[in-house]
Amino acid sequence: MRSVQVSRPKGPFELVERDIPDPRAGAVRIKVQACGICHSDSFTKEGTWPGLQYPRVPGHEIAGIIDAVGTGVLGWTVGQQVGVGWHGGHCGYCEACRRGDFVTCRIAAQVPGITYDGGYADYMIAPAEALALIPNELSAVEAGPLMCAGITTFNSLRHSGAAPGDLVAILGIGGLGHLGVQFAVKMGFKTVAIARGKDKEPLARQLGAWHYIDSQAQNPADELLRLGGARIILATATSGKAMAAVLGGLAVDGKMIILGAADPLDVSPLQLIGGRRSIAGWPSGRSIDSQDTLQFSALTGVRSMNEVFPLERAAEAYERMMSGNARFRVVLTTGK
Ligand SMILES: NC(=O)c1ccc[n+]([C@@H]2O[C@H](COP(=O)([O-])OP(=O)(O)OC[C@H]3O[C@@H](n4cnc5c(N)ncnc54)[C@H](OP(=O)(O)O)[C@@H]3O)[C@@H](O)[C@H]2O)c1
Ligand SMILES: [Zn+2]
Repeated sequence: MRSVQVSRPKGPFELVERDIPDPRAGAVRIKVQACGICHSDSFTKEGTWPGLQYPRVPGHEIAGIIDAVGTGVLGWTVGQQVGVGWHGGHCGYCEACRRGDFVTCRIAAQVPGITYDGGYADYMIAPAEALALIPNELSAVEAGPLMCAGITTFNSLRHSGAAPGDLVAILGIGGLGHLGVQFAVKMGFKTVAIARGKDKEPLARQLGAWHYIDSQAQNPADELLRLGGARIILATATSGKAMAAVLGGLAVDGKMIILGAADPLDVSPLQLIGGRRSIAGWPSGRSIDSQDTLQFSALTGVRSMNEVFPLERAAEAYERMMSGNARFRVVLTTGK
């Protein structure tokens, strides 16, 4: 089979031939059909994830067909179309969890592309508990990006405390952001898209945004306050500075939910105290949350807007994602 691996931090993507692996107990083999390229794949490519071991095959937005089932797997069979996402988790008792650092839990967190080989390949092995069933309405290319960009925005929005009619702003209109806009609209929020420049405005409006703020032409915080203040700001941008610049646009009791793995953000305590504002982070979710994301998308018509590349052009596809020019997700396909 073909795999695209990275052998060292900042090393190139290498297209290699590997033996097709057999699933261990409790895991399945997936014939990969499509794998989205998430900005978080840069942890593997650039070597910024603590303790990551190389070579590693990136990719955690996987859609494919179960091709073989390991012993002890209940409820999953060969031929089912499934998705696999980041699927972090925490055991609650390892050293990392006791520090409150659930993301690096070495026991429960099994992340494709990070702790084991992911979806930039013809086949991969996934633990059964990480699987989500893909509904018939969705193709593999449609389902892949929903496994990280989708679940992360859907799951954080549905637990955000916002009610239909509330003003919800999505900061950063990339892979996560363009799905965030669609989910927010379908959940009945008054949805504001915030991005740099004018060129994303027509697409944001096409995705259902009620209002668009060009953060380079206007002060995004002032603009949000002019609209009444945001109940929620979903921050998907990769810049802490961009997040800090919109924080003042929260209404009283408003909350900024940080999804983007950005550099530190500079916040004045007074910005939080007076308006009882808060800032929270959100990691994607569990496999059942992925399945909910897939079902909600099938039901409501939320779809990732994708640029599709064949697996062997992974390096070019990754650069396209990193350039910020993709509209809006780049997806690899294996032709299977
Ligand atoms: N919390 C989680 O579980 C989770 C899950 C997946 C991804 N992530 C993280 O979420 C972030 C977004 O991922 P993605 O796949 O959506 O990435 P992406 O498609 O590359 O989009 C990146 C976004 O960041 C914005 N951005 C980039 N540079 C910026 C700058 N200098 N100033 C302001 N904004 C800037 C862009 O904003 P414009 O629209 O203005 O161009 C764009 O919308 C990444 O940090 C990724 O690691 C987190
Ligand atoms: Zn991701």
